[in-house]
Amino acid sequence: MKTTTTNNNIIISLKNLSKNYTNSDIEIQALNNINLEICKGDYLSISGPSGCGKSTLLSILGLLDSPSQGDYFIENVDTNALSMDQQAELRNLHIGFVFQSFNLIDELSVFDNVALPLTYREEALDKEEIEKRVIEALTQVEMEHRQGHKPNQLSGGQQQRVAIARALAGAPTILLVDEPTGNLDSKNGDAVMDLLNNLNKQGTTICMVTHDVRYAGHASKQIHLLDGRIVKLSAANESMTSINSASENLAQQQAV
Ligand SMILES: Nc1ncnc2c1ncn2[C@@H]1O[C@H](COP(=O)(O)OP(=O)(O)OP(=O)(O)O)[C@@H](O)[C@H]1O
Ligand SMILES: [Mg+2]
Repeated sequence: MKTTTTNNNIIISLKNLSKNYTNSDIEIQALNNINLEICKGDYLSISGPSGCGKSTLLSILGLLDSPSQGDYFIENVDTNALSMDQQAELRNLHIGFVFQSFNLIDELSVFDNVALPLTYREEALDKEEIEKRVIEALTQVEMEHRQGHKPNQLSGGQQQRVAIARALAGAPTILLVDEPTGNLDSKNGDAVMDLLNNLNKQGTTICMVTHDVRYAGHASKQIHLLDGRIVKLSAANESMTSINSASENLAQQQAV
């Protein structure tokens, strides 16, 4: 079985990962030989022009899609070696998703929206544990006072905070966030970004796709994609091992 590095801080590792789509005989290379490591506590932003592969990369990281070539390890587990059911269980345990369009269920209360993913777990949580986690997550995003409301009774910014609480309630290894401010005005967008910054300061690992250069600047590590390749990496602390090794990989890619 394939194994990855011994650095305990690395929770996600992509090795020579590519993704191709074939549509009516036309092949699109959405991701081209991506090498990337994400460490515990990282705040990583992914940016680049429309169609460069950002959402494809996030879908693969979230185990919603699989690579055409290459390897993806989560906490040293080789995801290629897993069945669909095992992948779903790994996703449920490790991944919290936040989407641009919130994806809350209108018929359910705020409380029930946040509780819902916890009820899918193979290892069932009891009612008290679910309630504790939901209230904790809603408190983290300052929405516990709206737990009985329906999503359509909330502002866009509040809905996004509930969506973040839903992702946090599962205590994920990593929060994957796709354009979290895309449907928000700048005031609500700034509030959601402040919330993500605070969550990261408290230890949540975040990987965020954003078009907005200002928001990408909040992240401690930034990658830029172009035509499915990583063309630029930058980090607040350049000595971080993951960026160094990713930079080496970038140099190798560019030498090809
Ligand atoms: N299911 C699919 N079938 C075929 N091609 C696809 C599919 N999904 C994505 N693609 C193609 O893969 C490339 C990358 O798409 P992706 O959605 O990852 O881009 P993006 O960077 O997220 O763009 P945007 O900023 O517009 O959201 C694009 O050329 C897109 O047309
Ligand atoms: Mg996209």
